[in-house]
Parts: sequence; C-alpha cells; structure tokens
Amino acid sequence: MTERHGRITGWGMYVPDRVLTNHDLEQMVDTSDEWIVTRTGIRERRITEPGETSSTMSVEAAQRALARADVSPNELDLIIVATSSPDYLTPPVSSMVQDQLGAQRAAAFTLAAGCTGFVYALVTADQFIATGMYDKVLVIGVEHLSMAIDWTDRDTCVLFGDGAGAVVVESSYQPTGVLSAELGSEGKDWDALIVPGGGSARPFREETLAKREQYLRMDGRRVFKFATRAMTDSTLRVVRQSGLSWDDIELIIPHQANARIIDLAVRRLKVDPAKVMVNLDRYGNTSTASIPLALCEAVDQGRIRSGDHIVMVGFGAGLTWAAAVVHWQPEKVDEAPILVEDWPIGERLRQPVTRLRNAMWSAGVIVRSRFQEASTALLLPLYTWQGRRRRRRKQRESKEG
Ligand code: UT7
Repeated sequence: MTERHGRITGWGMYVPDRVLTNHDLEQMVDTSDEWIVTRTGIRERRITEPGETSSTMSVEAAQRALARADVSPNELDLIIVATSSPDYLTPPVSSMVQDQLGAQRAAAFTLAAGCTGFVYALVTADQFIATGMYDKVLVIGVEHLSMAIDWTDRDTCVLFGDGAGAVVVESSYQPTGVLSAELGSEGKDWDALIVPGGGSARPFREETLAKREQYLRMDGRRVFKFATRAMTDSTLRVVRQSGLSWDDIELIIPHQANARIIDLAVRRLKVDPAKVMVNLDRYGNTSTASIPLALCEAVDQGRIRSGDHIVMVGFGAGLTWAAAVVHWQPEKVDEAPILVEDWPIGERLRQPVTRLRNAMWSAGVIVRSRFQEASTALLLPLYTWQGRRRRRRKQRESKEG
C-alpha cells in the first residue's frame, strides 16, 4: 500500500496598503486606543481601497504562492477559496479567482466555515490529494470584512481587518503536510456571529436595511468562551493524534481574533508563549485570512524552518473550529512511492508510546482547565460585586474631591 500526502510548496499573502489605526477609530466611534489594546491586543488593521475585493486580494496572494512553488496557474487541478465575504453571493468567488489567475484546467469552489475556513480548506485539499483525485491544489483564505462592518458599532468595528493568504499543496509520497486534523461545528450557537440580512432568510428589503441587518453582529462574550475551550481542546487532540510529542511542535498558529483568547489558551496548554505566532496587533481579526497571513509572516521571519511541525487552530462563526498538525517541508524532492509495510519496526513502536504519553498529558490539561472554568464561574458574582463597590467608592470619592 502507498500513501499520498499534500506537501505545502508555496505560500503568499496580500494586505491592502491602507492602515486604519486605533487613533483613527477614536475619531469615528466612542472608543479609545487603551480599550482596544488591553481588551484585544489590536493596534491597527488594513482596510481595502476602492476597487479591491476578495477576488483581487486572492489573486495577489495566490500569484505569490504559485511563484514560490514554481507552479503555473494552468497546472492547477483545484482552487478552494475559503471566505465569508465573497465578491457576490453568486457566482462563487472561486470561479472569478480561477478566471483572473488563468487557471483554465482547475475546478474551483468556495468554502464558508467562518474564521475556521482556511483550516477546513487545507484539510479538504489534503483529502483530494490523499485519494489520488488531484495533484496540485491552491488554497486561499481571504476576507473583505470591512464591507460588512457597521462603522458606527464600536462592539465590532474595532476588531476586523481585510487581507488574503494562500498556499499551494502538491502530492507527495513522503509523510508531510497535514499529519492529523480535526474539523468541528457547534451549530446550536449559529446566531452568536451573524450577518442577519442578505441571505434567503432575510433578503435585502427596505425593512432589513432600515434595521442595519446587512452588517455583522457578534455576541463577543459567547464567542470568547467558546473560542478558549475549542482552541485548547482541539490543539490537544490533534497533537495526540499526530503521534508527535509536544517537544516536536515548533510553532502554534492560532486564529488571530484576540490576544486575550490566545494568552488564555497558551496558559491552559502550558506552552512557551515564544512558540505561538501573534500578528493581530498589525492586522486585527482578518477572519479566515488570519491563519495564512500569520503562517506567511512566520515563514518569512524564519520562525518556521524546513522540517518543523506546526499546529494551526481556528474558531469562528458557525460556531466552528478546526485544528491541524502540519509538517513543513516545502522543498520538492525526487521521490518514489513508499510501502507502509517497509516502515522500520522502531518507528511503528514509537508512535503508540508517544500517543499514550500525550494522552496522559492532555488529560491533565483538560482537568486543570475545567477546574479553572468552574472556579471562575463560582467566583464571578464575587468579582462583579467587588467591581461595583470599587466603582461606587471611586464615584463617591470623585464627588467629594
Ligand atoms: O473571529 C471570530 C471570532 N471572534 C472572536 O473570537 C471574538 C471573541 N470575543 C472577544 O474578543 C471579546 O468578547 C470582545 C473583544 C469582542 C469584547 O471584549 P469583552 O472584554 O468581552 O468586552 P464586553 O463585550 O464584555 O464589553 C465590556 C465593556 C462594555 O461596557 P459596560 O457594559 O461594561 O459599561 C462595552 O459596552 O466595554 C464596552 N465596549 C467598548 N468600550 C470602548 C465594547 N466595545 C468597546 C469599544 N471601546 N470598542
């Protein structure tokens, strides 16, 4: 038996030139740089110029990825574009990207899985390669959320930014690319992050526009709670499935939504913060573009080197989550099919032992984080009461002063 894997051979990113800082936002809504930085970690984000759309940003990122992989567009078998902000509801933006790239032979589809979309798309590409159906797949994560933001709503407008990232995945007989993965959805919370208008449930009418339903709304606290749990648990599970030890993981690339979500997950996982990629201070939350943007910057900064193992972990609208352990070795090598039966006996024995060790370690982390959640829930009323008392005392003092 021979196995096929998806080697990531090229990567590329694009962000618009226009920078919108927290100080710019202070002029637009009742907010402050201090609030945004302490609550989210974001300092600035990129916003499209007129004429820039999801398809144009995708093409920029894709051309860079294709050049790095030394693959021409007409060699592509498939293009998957992950996004929640396509140029149009119909046609799929993937076909526009296919046209603009000149990838005549390629099949193309658009995948919507909220901010988790890029990891869903990468795993899907890997599966098309593993089955032998395709050899060269382009995966893009792109978001043009600035057009779906209510710029009068301080709850959301300070968070999001625009951009695109792409990778080229090519068939390989070596165990590289996605080594283990998990895709998930918690559909009961579908309304926690939503653009209510414009779909078939509430098509654009005067009434929907009057209620500003064309804009994104988010129950931030509900998403926050889900995100910290999903990120921690799915990272643990994919590392365990991969058969690697935690020492083998060189970098974690989480969805860049909020520095506090990332910090909390890092503390629960007890990983070295230096092993976690964060660039949301400069781009904000670019939804499904955030993981490929962080991946591209990590590679370009030398934080990922050939032979490294990384974890990508995303969460977002749906609510969805996904995680994958990825072996990074972009160089193409002359290779022949490897028979699984030929694997050395030592390697076959090492995997179950490492899996057992990881299982024990992750059970410990889960018990610890459930304990933290329970104790926070118990102490929350006390903290709220203390906070109120402190605020009242301050108000009294300032009146007296
Ligand atoms: O990528 C998709 C996934 N999305 C996420 O992962 C987002 C997850 N959620 C979050 O990141 C956080 O919940 C937010 C950043 C959205 C909000 O942070 P928070 O600490 O949960 O704040 P909050 O919503 O509890 O609001 C706290 C206070 C409120 O005032 P009161 O009611 O305490 O007086 C808000 O009105 O902060 C106020 N507030 C703001 N103040 C200044 C909310 N937005 C702002 C703002 N500037 N921009």
